[in-house]
Amino acid sequence: MATPLDDEALDRLFRTARTANGYTDHPVSEADIRAIYDLLKMGPTSANQHPARFVWITSQEGKEKLAALSSGTNGEKIRKAPAAVIIGMDLNFNEELPWLFPHAPGAKDWFGDEATRYTHAFRNSSLQGAYFIIAARALGFDTGPMSGFDNAKVDEAFFADQPSVRSNFISTIGHADPSTIFERLPRPEFERFNRVI
Ligand SMILES: Cc1cc2nc3c(=O)[nH]c(=O)nc-3n(C[C@H](O)[C@H](O)[C@H](O)COP(=O)(O)O)c2cc1C
Repeated sequence: MATPLDDEALDRLFRTARTANGYTDHPVSEADIRAIYDLLKMGPTSANQHPARFVWITSQEGKEKLAALSSGTNGEKIRKAPAAVIIGMDLNFNEELPWLFPHAPGAKDWFGDEATRYTHAFRNSSLQGAYFIIAARALGFDTGPMSGFDNAKVDEAFFADQPSVRSNFISTIGHADPSTIFERLPRPEFERFNRVI
């Protein structure tokens, strides 16, 4: 039986981990991004769907393009971050199932209905976005996830060549500048939103 992670690991992943609003100058390399992906891809998705499609942005040009389509202070956060990512979702993810779920040759056809495909794509790409946050933290990075942006314009600007892909959410990545971190918001205690039956 596996033993629990130690307190340092639990703090890093959850208890003291914070959402970043600004970063140090320490860069995020493509090797860093690949290391984050190599961890996050191991997180489970329904029928091994892997609907998330990631666009990792390290160039200033790419950051400016995304920042211009983001709302409020999000644009400035993207412009100044070492890197950003768009977590997209492929609504035709089922086309890939013949190799991702090879033991069930008919799996591609389980998702023929558009509404069903959307539900699965959104659910599982959101999970993959969460795996991204935890993987980045595990490797010593901080993230700043954001949903305040114009999805349709981001799709047009970044997924024009993949018409079945829609943006889910975006995030900045780097090493947090502690001075930019907001006051911790309340977290609901167990009794409030849980029941054991
Ligand atoms: C999916 C998602 C979307 C978010 N969208 C925004 C956003 O558009 N702008 C923003 O400033 N913060 C955004 N946040 C940041 C949250 O407000 C923040 O993660 C939350 O308050 C917890 O902060 P903490 O990790 O520092 O405790 C988003 C977070 C998530 C997970």
